[in-house]
Amino acid sequence: MKKVFKYIGLGLGCILALAGGFCAYVAIVGVPAYDPPVIPEVTVEKTPARIARGEVIAQIQCMACHADNENRLTGKHLAEVPALFGTLYSKNITQDKEKGIGNWTDGELIYFLRTGVRRDGTYAPIMPQYPNMADEDMKSVVAWLRSDRFPVQPAGAEAPESELSLVSKLLTHTLMKPLSYSPKLVSLPDSTDEVALGRYTADAIGDCYSCHSGDMIDQSKTHPERSKGYYGGGIEMKDNEGKSVFTANLTFDDQTGIAKKYTKEQFIRVVKTGVRPDGSILRQPMFPRPMLSDQEVGAIYEFLKTVPKIKNDIAQKNAEVQLAEK
Ligand code: HEC
Ligand code: HEC
Repeated sequence: MKKVFKYIGLGLGCILALAGGFCAYVAIVGVPAYDPPVIPEVTVEKTPARIARGEVIAQIQCMACHADNENRLTGKHLAEVPALFGTLYSKNITQDKEKGIGNWTDGELIYFLRTGVRRDGTYAPIMPQYPNMADEDMKSVVAWLRSDRFPVQPAGAEAPESELSLVSKLLTHTLMKPLSYSPKLVSLPDSTDEVALGRYTADAIGDCYSCHSGDMIDQSKTHPERSKGYYGGGIEMKDNEGKSVFTANLTFDDQTGIAKKYTKEQFIRVVKTGVRPDGSILRQPMFPRPMLSDQEVGAIYEFLKTVPKIKNDIAQKNAEVQLAEK
């Protein structure tokens, strides 16, 4: 009998030693790098229509994470990210040739936005990837990045390097990986199909599910609907005062979702202005999206009706954490 325990002890000891060794290895190598990719040869034509559309997508995506106080995309501290993941900064993506992306080709930008991998094979784990964004929208983003709009004009300021926690580094060796590049054409949704337009706006360009699902890690970028707790909310984030705020349950659950909380008109208003029907204001990191059209936001509402309902009482979670923070 004693012998058995000895072997179990030895086994456990080995597992611990291996895990310790793996952690030490990860702490030293950091985020893994990949083979430098084959970059697609694309040259994006910069039409006014594309620049205008690119600005809409930039306003609901890129600016929230890359804009400084003057609205230049020189990079900034991402205060909403829980400390568990480290201290994270985005980067300068202005046209500055040294500090920004002035020297990137159109193909390199598109490859990076789809996969998370730069031309030299390094991987950016925190930056979202956009595998389901339509090619036309992707080109619009690139056209806007190359345009003469103020936010992307060359600026030399730079945010500090991110300090990823051991947890984040471990994740990049296990669950968080770059996506593979698919040359397959991604087309725009049929704009007369409200649910399809809503799904596209929320999942492919709005990235709403990445905050409004049940877990920050257990998500699928290529198949968002496979994400854990898809649109059931409950991820704990930090507002601009450093206080905890849970992401809302956007499913149509009768009691805990938005079914009875918002009519379609009220939903359009809260998403575009950040003001709830009772006059209260949504807290950061949720920000208003006035640049989306009523048709697009209304379509998100119709799409959310089709998402499986999840019972998750966010009001109670917020109340509990507020009590604890007092
Ligand atoms: C959730 C926050 C977030 C959003 C949204 C976001 N980014 Fe980023 N981005 C980052 C972070 C953080 C990094 C730095 C990653 C790193 O250093 O590993 C980054 C890096 C980059 C880089 C690489 C820059 C370099 O010098 O290596 C490019 C290019 C980029 N982002 C473009 C964009 C564009 C275009 C959009 C909008 C379509 C966008 N980002 C949206 C957070 C974000
Ligand atoms: C960076 C994370 C993040 C992203 C991305 C995000 N949200 Fe939110 N959202 C939140 C948080 C946090 C709250 C809760 C705010 C509060 O309680 O004051 C919230 C609240 C809401 C609410 C209010 C719900 C209620 O019960 O009152 C709506 C509606 C909403 N978001 C819709 C959206 C839509 C649509 C998108 C995509 C276009 C989106 N959100 C993207 C974090 C996010």
